[in-house]
Amino acid sequence: MVGGVGLLTGFPDGFEVGVSTAAYQIEGAIAEDGRGPSVWDTFSHTPGRIKNGDTGDVACDHYHRWPEDVALMADLGVDAYRFSIAWPRVQPTGSGALNRPGLDFYDRLVDALLERGIAALPTLFHWDLPQALEDQGGWLSRSTAERFAEYAGHVADRLGDRVHRWITLNEPVVHMADGYAFGGGAPGQALMFGALPVAHHQLLGHGLAVRALRERGATQVMITNNCSPVQPASDDEADVAAATLYDNFHNRLFNDPILLGAYPEFLESLLGDVIRDGDLAIISTPVDALGINYYNPMRIAASDSDLPFEQRPIEGVPTTAFGWPVVPDGLRDLLVGLRETYGSALPPIYITENGCSTDDGIGDSFRVDYLGGHLGALRQAIEAGVDVRGYYIWSLMDNFEWAEGYHQRFGLVHVDFETLERTPRDSYRWLQTALQERKS
Ligand code: BGC
Ligand code: BGC
Repeated sequence: MVGGVGLLTGFPDGFEVGVSTAAYQIEGAIAEDGRGPSVWDTFSHTPGRIKNGDTGDVACDHYHRWPEDVALMADLGVDAYRFSIAWPRVQPTGSGALNRPGLDFYDRLVDALLERGIAALPTLFHWDLPQALEDQGGWLSRSTAERFAEYAGHVADRLGDRVHRWITLNEPVVHMADGYAFGGGAPGQALMFGALPVAHHQLLGHGLAVRALRERGATQVMITNNCSPVQPASDDEADVAAATLYDNFHNRLFNDPILLGAYPEFLESLLGDVIRDGDLAIISTPVDALGINYYNPMRIAASDSDLPFEQRPIEGVPTTAFGWPVVPDGLRDLLVGLRETYGSALPPIYITENGCSTDDGIGDSFRVDYLGGHLGALRQAIEAGVDVRGYYIWSLMDNFEWAEGYHQRFGLVHVDFETLERTPRDSYRWLQTALQERKS
């Protein structure tokens, strides 16, 4: 394996390279120091929900081993670390009293990052809703949006003297779809189109949190959306219409209200009186940047099943261990397409997740090719005039991959889930070389 020579040339000055993780996927220590249960604890302990019966009880044990993980990032040489804060650690029932030891944990983590010259980019919600709030309706309930903004304010009260950049929510589309529409993720509801209020309430929570964070001096607030360029499976009129519909649910439902202050018309009528006067003004409170997670394009055909659209395989490209198609150009097309759609309403972009699962092993040339290809496509998007400021790899280390448990491995660092030993993979060394070269 040759190091990542030249990998980062041609990116603008100050372009940020980072790694991403999420609390429930790495922390473990689910009942320690006053943490309350989250929907993911409940879900993962429900028989049959997670492959192999895995849970996040221990995960990477990052809650205890964080100094080692910070050292791994410092040796890697990344500019920034995107992690998430577990709401049930900070506020065990999702409202009312704060849990000081939970906040202390993130306080120490932030200090350690800053000491090593690594910028901290916390996400306030990466799907681990306090179970007590789920019991009151979760994101189907409007009050969860208000609770979220209060929680965001509490975290900023504690960390805001050192952290000035925040991500409100991670991938509200995936949380709505997996958690409330199809049920493959926590809280495991399968309401189909009945899940739509979850989109609106998350967006409202986002907007209220933007305001709460700004009042506390935040200088850069963003949301992270999972975006996919959508292609019809054929030229057939029905497939083209299905692809447009899918694009609306996956991408526009979450980008339009934030960037344009309006839902696509048919979605607004589907939401009906879930939307109250003034909500869209809150949701479209200007963000400083847009976070985008990109994994693959979607190829969509018409369907007469329960849903009017269905996903079709993309032929003729490699697939990850998960079976996801590897299409680096999709990242360029997505970014160029966003600029065409939103024009001057599109803020600067950070790719807050991109990466792949590979089969177990330290020699991960597949990942090296995957990341190299996507960085190349990103460079092309920047050359085409899209303002992209950073690229964060999913993930620093192997972790609890939601309903897939531990067997899908996304890490630059391999984790042995028996011993919890961390071992840098070839992709880690490759990126390290590129980051060193850039500094020299
Ligand atoms: C999709 C990815 C998406 C993921 C979310 C997959 O089915 O192909 O684009 O990020 O689900 O978990
Ligand atoms: C999520 C991550 C997840 C990754 C791979 C994204 O949808 O934000 O939590 O591990 O995709 O599935």
